[in-house]
Amino acid sequence: MDHFHYTGDRLHCESIDVAAIADAVGTPTYVYSTATLTEHYRRIADAFRAIDPLICYSVKSCGNLGVCRTLGALGAGMDVVSGGEIFRARRAGVPASKLVYAGVGKTDAEIREALREGIFLLNVESEAEFENTARLAREMNVQCRCALRVNPDVDPKTHRYTSTGRKETKFGVDIERARAFFRAYGRDPHARLVGLHLHIGSPIYDTAPYVSAITKALALRDELLTEGFEVSVLDIGGGFAADYETGRSPDAATYAAAIVPLLAPAVATGLRIVLEPGRAIIANAGILLTRVQYVKQSGEKTFAICDAGMNTLLRPSHYEAFHFIWPTAPAPAFVPARRTEKPDMQGLVMHDVVGPICETGDFLALDRAMPPVARGDLLAVFTAGAYGMSMASRYNSVPLPAEVLVHGDRFEVVRRRETYADLVAHEA
Ligand SMILES: Cc1ncc(COP(=O)(O)O)c(C=O)c1O
Repeated sequence: MDHFHYTGDRLHCESIDVAAIADAVGTPTYVYSTATLTEHYRRIADAFRAIDPLICYSVKSCGNLGVCRTLGALGAGMDVVSGGEIFRARRAGVPASKLVYAGVGKTDAEIREALREGIFLLNVESEAEFENTARLAREMNVQCRCALRVNPDVDPKTHRYTSTGRKETKFGVDIERARAFFRAYGRDPHARLVGLHLHIGSPIYDTAPYVSAITKALALRDELLTEGFEVSVLDIGGGFAADYETGRSPDAATYAAAIVPLLAPAVATGLRIVLEPGRAIIANAGILLTRVQYVKQSGEKTFAICDAGMNTLLRPSHYEAFHFIWPTAPAPAFVPARRTEKPDMQGLVMHDVVGPICETGDFLALDRAMPPVARGDLLAVFTAGAYGMSMASRYNSVPLPAEVLVHGDRFEVVRRRETYADLVAHEA
């Protein structure tokens, strides 16, 4: 579900013709829909209402302050993975008591920041990290709450770069080690071990991996409770899918139907649940606007060369990810009824949609059927809100794009386009 739609033959975000945004702000530009991200957050909250989770939006998916502020105002907490993300979430007005902090390589400075802020939960990923956290908490004479990230050895059946719940990945500790972990550290007076954390990968299109991972975590919790340890929080992580290809992704209610019955009995006896959705909230709430600079033929290929590339949206190049791409003002015969991977219209032309970067791997789509495009056409890259701007780089010294947040019939530039001066601002 999203609020990007063709009205007549022009793409709109809510009530705004996206071409007006491109005219005012230039391209490339990320455009986010407030109505869409609000609806996505509310659907998750409604679907999981019976277990009243703390929903911590995953800042890494799109950390723009305007987006974080909007979600924070709806009551969301935030899942952060660095000192910078703690700073960002706090700047967006999210209380420290709603922050959960994961990551395998937290530095002393970052842990101290988390301790100083008094965040809700530090998700520790190794014995060494726990010992370091406990040392720092002792030195600062504070108490913090920790959850142990366990690696349940479940295959989330997603891209290997974003599959995090298998034993051979760097994340968390395996379940066998978790028992020994609690025995060694479960009674630390400063770093209080009070919970378990899972995050098995993303995007996960099936509920079965969640069921399997949560079942293992609950069994572990029962054993730990029997040994007298506190396990009052279970953070089940993120990974709910976004609708990259229409019809493929389960909705929040489908995930909840599988997960809530598993957790409800433990919740009734006091277990607090945390969810960390990112892309399910923001991916379909964002598009990337890019302008075709040139069209050229080479061999059998037709290239649409755009002003956005792997520096702007890395996912196609890095994960071979699919993003539907379409002109924002197509000829009437090419107005899509809905987003589909292979529109069955007459007259489509195969394109490689590529960027300006000096890499053969710089593409947004390969061998993609699209209406014929021409220099100056504006294209929309759909489902680009998550891991778009947050993974953008200044490679080839191309300034970072602008970000715009739409609210009904008005829009706000929530990050201005970088200038050349910005590019060198930190250099001597
Ligand atoms: C610990 C953790 N939680 C949550 C997420 C969010 O995942 P998604 O955006 O797919 O919901 C991630 C993504 O990498 C993660 O590493």
